[in-house]
Amino acid sequence: MRPVRCVRMHSRIAGTGRYLPSRIITNDELSQKIDTSDEWIRTRTGIRQRHVVADGEQTSDLAFFASRAALASASLAPSDIDLIIVATTTPDVVFPSTACILQAKLGANGGPAFDVQAVCSGFVYALAIADRMITSGMARNAVVVGAEIYSRILDWSDRGTCVLFGDGAGAVVLLPSDAPGILSSHLHADGRYKDILCVPGQVSRGAVQGTPFVRMDGHAVFKFGVKVLAEAAEEALAANRMKASDIDWLIPHQANIRIMDATAKKLGLSPERVISTVHAHANTSAASIPLALDVAARDGRICAGQHLMLVGVGGGFTWGSVLLRW
Ligand code: ACO
Repeated sequence: MRPVRCVRMHSRIAGTGRYLPSRIITNDELSQKIDTSDEWIRTRTGIRQRHVVADGEQTSDLAFFASRAALASASLAPSDIDLIIVATTTPDVVFPSTACILQAKLGANGGPAFDVQAVCSGFVYALAIADRMITSGMARNAVVVGAEIYSRILDWSDRGTCVLFGDGAGAVVLLPSDAPGILSSHLHADGRYKDILCVPGQVSRGAVQGTPFVRMDGHAVFKFGVKVLAEAAEEALAANRMKASDIDWLIPHQANIRIMDATAKKLGLSPERVISTVHAHANTSAASIPLALDVAARDGRICAGQHLMLVGVGGGFTWGSVLLRW
């Protein structure tokens, strides 16, 4: 009898890319327009600057440049891609999805393309979905993007929120693989916390009803963020029978350096094991994790065989993890 070879299909990240708009707004520049200071912003958040789009630049443009860079680093062409998922809270238009607009810009037509709306956890949600679609055989080669233009949903006179966010996009190419790759993903939401971080406006009868700007209870978000980011990482470690010391790099949602440091501390990880780009990019919501991933992949910090813990938290509230071997 011939032996049966049982191959469990996995997915793995084969390329990463990013795009940041060229315009940079420093804390000092902000402090010339509103009652704030570089010192206040840096000590409370770790943020020194943020990138902001030009008029006419759309989320799909940011996603396009990030995807093109990811495809180049995976040595693939757009025609090799049969799945596109864009995590975004700031789509180009109400519909079609930013993923469909991106698909047309890439010229990667025919496969499924859709957006995921899980706010700052969006990239973790999107990566988990793409992994399941590849491992089930539903898709083969995916582009997964986090892309955001928060500068257009900020009230620039509200110093409590406008100093925190920035624009940008990060992307990965996810391919099938005999070996992991992605080891696990866990996703969560609790809608009872929907009001502590929201943009409570809607387009109705030709006008915006409610407020089209970010509203946030900073203290509640801080507390909730630290709690669930650490819980998400612990859940992934337990599912894989791993210890925090097995993690080479923690890549949390880049909300705020204090939330990131507090999460690392709860897990017993030193701050050196945390990939942080919040000083340069600010909080780019769904784009923050793939942006940080691309920076660390390209500067040589992330090496083959290392374990990466991606943990996200965002409005909804949503949270979750993707644990992977590079
Ligand atoms: N510049 C100067 N002063 C400010 C600013 C600012 N940009 N913003 C608020 N203040 C003032 C407040 O008005 C307040 O003044 P008062 O004492 O006279 O009333 C004072 O600073 C202290 O305000 P707090 O809100 O208590 O400041 P805190 O130290 O808590 O920091 C912050 C605020 C940074 C928002 C903090 O609560 C935080 O980090 N929360 C997490 C929120 C976060 O990261 N959100 C990102 C989105 S969420 C996500 O991505 C999942």
